[in-house]
Amino acid sequence: MPVGTQGTVKAVTKDQLLSTKPQIILGNTYHLYLRPGVDVLKHFGGLHRFMNWDLPILTDSGGFQVFSLAKEKNVQGKHKTEVILTEEGVKFRSHLDGSWHFFTPELVIQIQEIIGSDIIMPLDVCPPYPVSHTTARDAVEKTIRWLERSKKAKKDNGQALFGIVQGSTYPDLRRESALKTVEMEMDGYSIGGLSVGEPAEFMYEMTQIVVEILPENRPRYLMGVGTPENIVESVDKGVDMFDCVMPTRNARNGTLFTHYGRLNIKAAKHRLSDDPVDPECDCYTCRNFSRGYLRHLYNAEEITGMILGTIHNLRYYSLLMEKIRDSIRKGRFKQFKKEFYDKQSVVK
Ligand code: GUN
Ligand code: ZN
Repeated sequence: MPVGTQGTVKAVTKDQLLSTKPQIILGNTYHLYLRPGVDVLKHFGGLHRFMNWDLPILTDSGGFQVFSLAKEKNVQGKHKTEVILTEEGVKFRSHLDGSWHFFTPELVIQIQEIIGSDIIMPLDVCPPYPVSHTTARDAVEKTIRWLERSKKAKKDNGQALFGIVQGSTYPDLRRESALKTVEMEMDGYSIGGLSVGEPAEFMYEMTQIVVEILPENRPRYLMGVGTPENIVESVDKGVDMFDCVMPTRNARNGTLFTHYGRLNIKAAKHRLSDDPVDPECDCYTCRNFSRGYLRHLYNAEEITGMILGTIHNLRYYSLLMEKIRDSIRKGRFKQFKKEFYDKQSVVK
């Protein structure tokens, strides 16, 4: 899922985004609630109509943002941030103006009903890494109790509600969280609390433990992951869905993905290159422009560079997923995985 936190996937128009062939995009309850606000979304009949987007949208609950943005602002020192976690919900300050807000599981469901996303996430508690076993267990248990409240608060309106598995890097807590979440018979299952700074081996180990418990006939979504390598490894374990800012954010700073590894398009070695970014890519950028031209745009800080880079990276990711799905259908995923790694290490 390309990430469209604030009602747009950054740097691309709807048609440019569609040209990269996504199946679904991600939006964010926290951001949309703060800006433009629920009244605006209600006025426009929900997010699909507001942004003129006909394909599915998944919205994250804000559970993650409340905690992660709080930390960011402390580092920058703009606002003194406090996040107050109670049984009832979470009190937090806006990263925009420092105003206080209170999210409950019920409110977050209601906001997502107004947003009108196709798949919604419950409010959860996502602790940072590292965290004590006690704090991680509290987060797991609160997340489960909040899921029960979310399920009760939800209308029978066709929106799919997933459960989110927490448990930090503790195998016992991951098992407990997965088992209790599965008991709730959700429409799909998210694996949260990973890719928060823990070593990749922990992420893979936790994913493995959790995926084995989750039902195979429901979507399994690894939140906030990841690199192309992370995706290939996690699919191998049984994950179906991902979201990550990596294709879009990296495109804006000049890191482009190719079938032969990443490249820094600003590098001098591309100055006279007539080659496309990736000879195996069918995107608008690769069909029309050279590395040399893109390098110039990036170095001249022309916004067209970011737009073309974003189109390419999004297509790289959607093509990766297309190839993964195709190889699974043909029963040759392991072979795909081997070829993927063999190519990645070719010197560009
Ligand atoms: N995005 C990445 N990780 C998480 C998580 O643990 N919870 C939520 N709600 N969103 C996430
Ligand atoms: Zn391309």
